Amino acid sequence: MNGPFEAVKISDKAYWVGAVDWAIRDFHGYSTRRGTTYNAYLVLADRYVLIDTVKAPFKDEMLSRIASVLDPRHISYVISNHSEMDHSGCLTDVIEMLEPEKVFASPMGVKALAGHFAKTRSGEIVPVKDGESLNLGNATLTFTHTPMLHWPDSMFTYLPEDALLFSQDAFGMHLAGGRRFADEIDDEILLDEAARYYANILLPFSPLVLKLIETQYVPDERALTLCRELGKTIAEKLAERCDG
Ligand SMILES: [Fe+2]
Repeated sequence: MNGPFEAVKISDKAYWVGAVDWAIRDFHGYSTRRGTTYNAYLVLADRYVLIDTVKAPFKDEMLSRIASVLDPRHISYVISNHSEMDHSGCLTDVIEMLEPEKVFASPMGVKALAGHFAKTRSGEIVPVKDGESLNLGNATLTFTHTPMLHWPDSMFTYLPEDALLFSQDAFGMHLAGGRRFADEIDDEILLDEAARYYANILLPFSPLVLKLIETQYVPDERALTLCRELGKTIAEKLAERCDG
């Protein structure tokens, strides 16, 4: 470990490598009184994968966290679950600096990213089908399209070997902090910010959220870890949360 920004191990194969924005108090008109966190993740299987990036000014923080566990240039694949700039703001820089073999997104994500990065030489981004899997050798990543949770391009990435779901904004919240796991945070703060985020961003799409949970993820009998892409990583059984 070499510096102030280090990766946080969250499972056998995954690390959190995002950035904490302590200062932000307004996110597109949404009052972020407790700041926010931009979540990016590394999956270290036979191939190395970066899932999402962070807001552009926080690029060096993310790269420092990645460098605390591996040479960032060894990343083979980058996955963009969501094209909003707090997730993809330094994607172009990552592509140019790290030269990954491939970058994946949903078909709508490919269109959105092309719009954002029309003036760059970011190269082709590969669209993935709903349910498609990416073979990493000793692990797999499976993609689920989740349109309108909360953008048309949104998708989830699932790592079944670790029962880890990278859920981008669908279970997000705005919260800065030094702790990464839900059980390390005061319940009152956690639930307050989760409720505020859901009410502001996802409430109109509640039927889609419930359908997704019922059809896709509750059948997993192991503890399912949700890796939010804003706010905190949360480690709880999703089924228990839904029942509660
Ligand atoms: Fe978003």
